[in-house]
Amino acid sequence: MTRVTVVGAGFVGMTCAQRLAEKELAEEIVLIDVIEGRPQGLALDLNEAAAIEGYQARVVGTNDPADTHGSDLVIMTAGMPRKPGMDRSDLLEVNGKIVNAVAGYVAEGSPEARVIVVSNPLDTMVYLMAARLGFAKNRVVGMAGALDSARMSFFISEQLGGGVADARCMVLGGHGDSMVPMPAFSTLNGVSVTALLSEEKITAINERTKKGGGEIVALLKTGSAFYAPSAGAVAMAKAILRDEKRLIPCAAYLQGQYGLEDIFMGVPCVLGANGVERVVELELSEADSASLQRSAAAVRKDLETLREKGLL
Ligand code: LAC
Repeated sequence: MTRVTVVGAGFVGMTCAQRLAEKELAEEIVLIDVIEGRPQGLALDLNEAAAIEGYQARVVGTNDPADTHGSDLVIMTAGMPRKPGMDRSDLLEVNGKIVNAVAGYVAEGSPEARVIVVSNPLDTMVYLMAARLGFAKNRVVGMAGALDSARMSFFISEQLGGGVADARCMVLGGHGDSMVPMPAFSTLNGVSVTALLSEEKITAINERTKKGGGEIVALLKTGSAFYAPSAGAVAMAKAILRDEKRLIPCAAYLQGQYGLEDIFMGVPCVLGANGVERVVELELSEADSASLQRSAAAVRKDLETLREKGLL
């Protein structure tokens, strides 16, 4: 039996559970949260929906970490979302404590799990999770590039008047304002977007992509995006559970690739049963390379803060 645990029953967690159930990616989906009643209520609702939708997956809502034991895959979504005006880094301390607590019970009860981290600030939280779990680093991966590149794909299709299903975009670097959209590696079914849109339009799309999370926070006012984030996390979960070997930009542990050492950051990865099975190194322009290094410096600054606060 395949068991997938979703940690955190907020909007991202609950939509992850729904997508996992509807796609029948696991026989059992455990939704865990510290709030009493919420995961249980959502699980009951999802199990009742199965009578209409017809999916064969059981959702278990719980506050007890013991119910997550033996998970094949864990999707970590718990944490405070941003409020308008907040930077993802503002969440470092509060979410760092939550990641520490979750890593404790995942390491103990699910030693074979592959772990996808969604909590922000993403690149720092996935580093912390991996450090605390002590698992092989390829089994821990962060979801950001899937989301950022989905946003870029939508913005491109909007400019072209449609075709979102053919858009394949690449966004590298940290999941922050320093992320690096890569139009040179973004295509509509293999046709480079640089051949389809003016430089001016591409620059505007890059800028909108970098601030894509903030655009939604500003509109929602009481939370952050969840449909596209959960879609990204579940696409990664599917690639791992079904050993699809998909190439998706993810926050992976780097050991020299792109000239970066001992850091989790967004790079193209092949995802399969072993988690990150390969980090693909692209030949970058000097400007993109410099942007990637700047993005890494921003991630390192957050890691330093985490260390100063004694959380790492
Ligand atoms: C976003 C937040 C969740 O990008 O990081 O929507």
